[in-house]
Amino acid sequence: MFRKKINACSMPMQHDTPIRVHDRLFVPLISEAEIQARVAELAVRINEDYAGRNPLIIVVLNGAFVFAADLVRLLTIRPEIQFIRISTYGNSMQSTETARVLLDLEGQLEHRHVVLIEDIVDTGYTMDFFLSLLDQHNPASVRVMTLLFKPERYGGRRPPEYIGFRIPPAFVVGYGMDYAQQGRELRAIYQPAPEPSN
Ligand code: IMP
Repeated sequence: MFRKKINACSMPMQHDTPIRVHDRLFVPLISEAEIQARVAELAVRINEDYAGRNPLIIVVLNGAFVFAADLVRLLTIRPEIQFIRISTYGNSMQSTETARVLLDLEGQLEHRHVVLIEDIVDTGYTMDFFLSLLDQHNPASVRVMTLLFKPERYGGRRPPEYIGFRIPPAFVVGYGMDYAQQGRELRAIYQPAPEPSN
C-alpha cells in the first residue's frame, strides 16, 4: 500500500547544494519528481476508495496547502474542500502537545465521509486532537492522508490510513512546510544538512 519509503539511512547525494532557511542549512531529502509521482499515486487511491461518493476533504493549514492543491487537482471524484488550522509549533522546531483549532467546521460533518489532509504527522498529537473533535460530530467515516510520516516519533492512537513517505525524525522544510514561516515555496522537501566535521 505504501510503496515509497525514505528510510533512516537515506543520505543526500553528493551534488546536492545546501540551501539556507533562516540560520540553518538544509539538503534535499525528497525530490520534486518523487513527490509528484507519489501524489499521483495517492490521488488514485482516493479516486478508487471514494468512487461514487462526495467526501469532505479537510485540509490542515498551513503546511498542507501545497500538497492538497496538487492532490485535489488529480481527483476525478467530486469532493467538497474545507480548511482548518491547528497550531502546534509557533516559530520553534520543537513539538508541543497543545493544539488549537482556529477554523470551525461544526454542522458540516454529520454523516459525511471525511478525509483529513495533513502535511506531516510527527508525534501524532495534532492528528489525535483533531480526530477526537471530529468524532463528536458524528461523521460517517474519517480517514487521514499525510504526505509525510515520522514513525520513530509517532506516539498517537491511530496511524494515518494514507501515507506518502515515511521519513527519519529530522525536521523538514519545503513543499508547504516551513521553518519559522520560511521555506514553504520550495518545490522539494529538505532535511537539515549534516554538521561539518572539524
Ligand atoms: P505533531 O502533532 O507532532 O504530529 O505535529 C504535526 C504538525 O507539526 C504538522 O502538521 C506540521 O505542521 C508540524 N511539523 C511536524 N514536524 C515538522 C517538520 O519536520 N517540519 C515542519 N513542520 C513540522
